[in-house]
Amino acid sequence: MVSMDKLVALSKRRGFIFPSSEIYGGLNGCWDYGPLGVELKRNIKAAWWDDMIAHHDETAAPDGAPSAFAMVGLDASILMNPRVWEASGHVGGFADPMVDCRETRARYRADQLVVFRVAFDGEAVDEPLFASPGEWGKATEDELIEPHKKRIGALAKAHPGKTMRIEAVDGALEDEALRGRTIAPGASEPGSLTAPRAFNLMFKTHVGALEDASSIAYLRPETAQGIFVNFKNVLDTARVRLPVGIGQIGKAFRNEINPRNFTFRSREFEQMEIEFFCRPAEAPDWYRYWRDRRYQWYVSLGIRSENLALREHEDSELAHYAAACADIEYRFPFGQSELEGIANRTDFDLKQHMAVSGKDLRYIDDLEPDPEKRRVLPYVIEPSAGADRATLAFLADAYAEDEVGGESRTVLRFHPRLAPIKVAVFPLVRKEGMPDAALTLYRRLRRRFNAFYDEKGAIGRRYRRQDEAGTPFCVTVDGETLSDGTVTVRDRDTCTQTRVSADRVAEYLAERVEGA
Ligand code: GAP
Repeated sequence: MVSMDKLVALSKRRGFIFPSSEIYGGLNGCWDYGPLGVELKRNIKAAWWDDMIAHHDETAAPDGAPSAFAMVGLDASILMNPRVWEASGHVGGFADPMVDCRETRARYRADQLVVFRVAFDGEAVDEPLFASPGEWGKATEDELIEPHKKRIGALAKAHPGKTMRIEAVDGALEDEALRGRTIAPGASEPGSLTAPRAFNLMFKTHVGALEDASSIAYLRPETAQGIFVNFKNVLDTARVRLPVGIGQIGKAFRNEINPRNFTFRSREFEQMEIEFFCRPAEAPDWYRYWRDRRYQWYVSLGIRSENLALREHEDSELAHYAAACADIEYRFPFGQSELEGIANRTDFDLKQHMAVSGKDLRYIDDLEPDPEKRRVLPYVIEPSAGADRATLAFLADAYAEDEVGGESRTVLRFHPRLAPIKVAVFPLVRKEGMPDAALTLYRRLRRRFNAFYDEKGAIGRRYRRQDEAGTPFCVTVDGETLSDGTVTVRDRDTCTQTRVSADRVAEYLAERVEGA
């Protein structure tokens, strides 16, 4: 697996992802997608939209689905009536516990700070305790020791010949006495951490000229609520019946206490969410269908299944309203973490919006003969994915280093549907009419594919540059082209070259890119 440092360096060097407003020192938790990154992310979002919504066939049950179903799209506004967030529970409860270090001024999420002690031959040293960023069981012992290497090294020296282990001290941040003995990362003395305080993650702003309590609005922390509040509008206008899914792609904002791991935890990010409305009795079957289908979606776009895991939540982990939840996790370079969540949210959201808005959001089944059963409050299955996390996972999974003709190369093995540039066109040399022929072909291909023209430098260097950008095909115009009208098409992954008639290159690529 590629290291995070290499991925960040490649993203910067090749124009995938830059720190936001970098010339001013950046803004923590915000990222900009460069020329290649924007194409990659757009292709991921387009693949999601096409596969989930636009190309969905509502007349037949797809493999594994309990029945046929409808899928439609939505694009709701980011700013919404603030009562939406009261009903959804975000005003009251969308908070993380936050801890500050009074000495270093660093801020941490309490659940992402491990407090531990060291023990020698099983005998614990209780003074001092150490706090390090990470999660117990996820971070390695070396990572947790790193911020306190000197002090722990000195303790090890004072216990020669003994085996050292570290032990988590649960609840230390909530306990004043234990906190007083804890050294924060980078701090010189124990006792600098504050008690955990709830911190609401929603960004607040004001709508209109007056900045008072009546004008408060929030940047949406998820796209889902835009779907719930439009449920009736969609039912009334799209002529759809249960079961029906409504999908949306859009920005979401969270004032994360500790944005980290590159784009993985950002303050501004994009979500790709489906709220799938079904009859309550059918919800368990639809939950399993969506969980498995969403997992397969990543595999179908080239993510290696050994790097994916489907983690079903324990009952103790479930939100109070959820009947089931699973995470699709990816083995990121920094550890296995959530890529997408799939939840059975029961009828919680629609019920909340009915109670707070006073509007009846029930589905009316006009084919139901029994008037008692005609109004149904659907259950909701929610597959909720992040476009930025998906981009990071596809980048990490595509990264490879290998050797071609005795020369090492970096290559991004993107699935052709996701590759930012589909085809590069080169004249072998800048003479004998080759550039003209190559430009003619490039202009023809460009109408259909994201294509790139390059005539500078040795042909081997040009191939390497495209390998590093993840371009699946390079087409070269050479001496034979001028005599027999054929070009070579080089495959990024196998490096084999196939001669194809220049007139047939567009179809050849279409079969491999669109049909791939
Ligand atoms: N409507 C449900 C919901 O928003 P979530 O687990 O909070 O659930 C869903 O978010 C997905 O959104 C995550 O699996 C992740 O891909 C993405 N996501 C959430 N917070 C993020 C952040 N701070 N930065 C980047 N992506 C994030």
